[in-house]
Amino acid sequence: MKKILITGGAGMIGSNLVKRLVEEGNEIYVIDNLWRGKLEYLNDEVTGHAVIDLNTHFFNIDLSVQGNVDELISSGKFEYVVHLADIVAGIDYVFGNQGDLFRQNNLINTNIFNAVRKAGKDKIKGLIYVGTACSFPLTRQNSLDVIPLQDDELFPALPESAYGWSKLMGQLEIGFLEQETGIPCCTLMFHNVYGSPCDYGARSQVIPALIRKAINYPDEPFNVWGSGEQGRAFIHVDDVINALCLALDRGWGHGWMQIGPSVCTSIREIAETVVKISGKDIDIFYDTTKPEGDKARSADYSKAKEILGWEPKVNLEEGLKSQYNWIKSQIENEK
Ligand SMILES: NC(=O)c1ccc[n+]([C@@H]2O[C@H](COP(=O)([O-])OP(=O)(O)OC[C@H]3O[C@@H](n4cnc5c(N)ncnc54)[C@H](O)[C@@H]3O)[C@@H](O)[C@H]2O)c1
Repeated sequence: MKKILITGGAGMIGSNLVKRLVEEGNEIYVIDNLWRGKLEYLNDEVTGHAVIDLNTHFFNIDLSVQGNVDELISSGKFEYVVHLADIVAGIDYVFGNQGDLFRQNNLINTNIFNAVRKAGKDKIKGLIYVGTACSFPLTRQNSLDVIPLQDDELFPALPESAYGWSKLMGQLEIGFLEQETGIPCCTLMFHNVYGSPCDYGARSQVIPALIRKAINYPDEPFNVWGSGEQGRAFIHVDDVINALCLALDRGWGHGWMQIGPSVCTSIREIAETVVKISGKDIDIFYDTTKPEGDKARSADYSKAKEILGWEPKVNLEEGLKSQYNWIKSQIENEK
């Protein structure tokens, strides 16, 4: 049994991790300011009740404010920190708010790392940070001929977006923190994660946005941003949770490793699969006036396989079906 703090624990990845770790008998604390996460994401699907005591184990704290979290991290309530909180959103939000997003993520990350440094290794036995494939150089992601990204291709750095840069700054800082304090650290660099519960509104990422459009069609047009040729290495949230649980067990002291499949799937394939799942006769419109971000990428996950024994397992179409059904039930409940 471990006592673990999960920042961003009311978000998409965080809430799934909280549930898994509680189920496995761990004592879990959550920090989230509910910028994007929701308390109801922490509810057990069967009982409808939160899986942690929200009065004693949930903290609504804004991590971008210096000093807000120092006392809690030094309290001795938990020995491990999984730091997931950050501003993460769809391409529209990311490119429309680059300056603010860069600042917010740097503040959130440095405040958590500083609080962990102050607590010291007598109190904190391990810290996990999550990076992103968006931090890899844009020059390795600008071709449709995809060669899986290698972990050591991260530098020299040239991410495309402020989001990628901000997450990379966190990755650098956790490396320095580990050297300075001796607190065991681990960084998992996720590729594009999908699954439920998730945001499917204006700030949502591509998959939930396309699912929403298919469900609402024809009231909402099924517009795909960009040519549809652009591709990503999509990874289901259950696979990501497996990686985080394995990292808590044996990921310490190995630097960073990618978590994602070696297969790149085009947005066109995603759009067509979502249309197929919907069972509707939908006209797909590719809006080439909209940005599409990096061209294509996939992961060489051999380091994660070697160190964690991790491999992706969830079939993409099955994962999409389950996310489709979750978003559909949410939209029906809203009516
Ligand atoms: N979803 C992906 O495709 C993906 C890919 C690579 C990396 N990641 C990383 O995984 C982590 C979790 O992402 P997610 O997909 O679950 O996103 P999410 O938005 O669902 O979760 C992030 C959580 O952080 C919280 N948060 C934001 N600002 C905060 C603040 N100032 N103080 C406290 N809490 C705050 C949000 O409310 C949210 O619940 C992030 O660090 C993200 O960068 C995600």
